[in-house]
Amino acid sequence: MSEPAIRIDHLHVRFDEYYVLQDIHAEIQEESFVAIVGPNGAGKSTLLRTLLGLVIPTEGNVTIFGKEPRNVPADRIGYVPQIKTMDRSFPAQSIELVLTGLNRRWPWTKSKEDYEKALAALEKVGAAHLAKRALSKLSGGELQRVCLARSIVRQPRLVMLDEPATGIDAVGEADMYRDLELYRREAKATVVMITHDWHVAMHHADRVLLINQKQISFDAPSVALSEENLRRAFGHIGHEHGLLSLVKSNG
Ligand SMILES: Nc1ncnc2c1ncn2[C@@H]1O[C@H](COP(=O)(O)OP(=O)(O)OP(=O)(O)O)[C@@H](O)[C@H]1O
Ligand SMILES: [Mg+2]
Repeated sequence: MSEPAIRIDHLHVRFDEYYVLQDIHAEIQEESFVAIVGPNGAGKSTLLRTLLGLVIPTEGNVTIFGKEPRNVPADRIGYVPQIKTMDRSFPAQSIELVLTGLNRRWPWTKSKEDYEKALAALEKVGAAHLAKRALSKLSGGELQRVCLARSIVRQPRLVMLDEPATGIDAVGEADMYRDLELYRREAKATVVMITHDWHVAMHHADRVLLINQKQISFDAPSVALSEENLRRAFGHIGHEHGLLSLVKSNG
């Protein structure tokens, strides 16, 4: 069997005296779609940042395509960070943000070739019409699409997304998953996505990594998101989210 896209080997991450991640272990095969699910503060973003080489493991290790994250060529990985706040007041267009995905710096000059690549990425996510729009004028959902375009502009083999549906309405969200799925198939890419949405994890992922500091499950969605596992991860299951009915309908 070929080297997995991601190997997480007994990973522990501690900040000060506090363990944020304990003994996470998983192998994510190439071309699969994995959802990372867990409550607020479970360590999901920290796990993704460890896979990007932005956080160093306290114990254990992770490899991406068989290499340490820091040694993976940057064009292999696309990343959509969790948007908490972003200063969008500076005068810049959407396409300029996408161009930073090609060069990792602000495009003071842009070649015709790069510009066309950036436009093609915007087209792929149905956002070509936003290319020249000022970032400050984008809606939350439009900004997320532009960030998605930025993450795939270099045709990465691995795309990691931290709650990419934040601020997107239901129709826009469905479109975004369709575009992501199309990209995954076309580029034979692996997708790892953090989501709070059970339905999304259930319907789009091949496997779900359920964590709350410790690993609860890494399995097929219907197994990982069992009622018992969700109670272990979240402490209780909210009726308000229709979660119980989802879990029950799932068997
Ligand atoms: N650099 C850091 N230094 C110290 N503590 C941190 C740091 N980064 C994250 N933490 C803490 O680690 C815990 C996990 O944070 P993380 O952002 O990974 O959670 P999350 O599962 O992504 O949560 P959310 O669903 O709210 O995005 C939190 O308690 C957070 O305060
Ligand atoms: Mg997070």
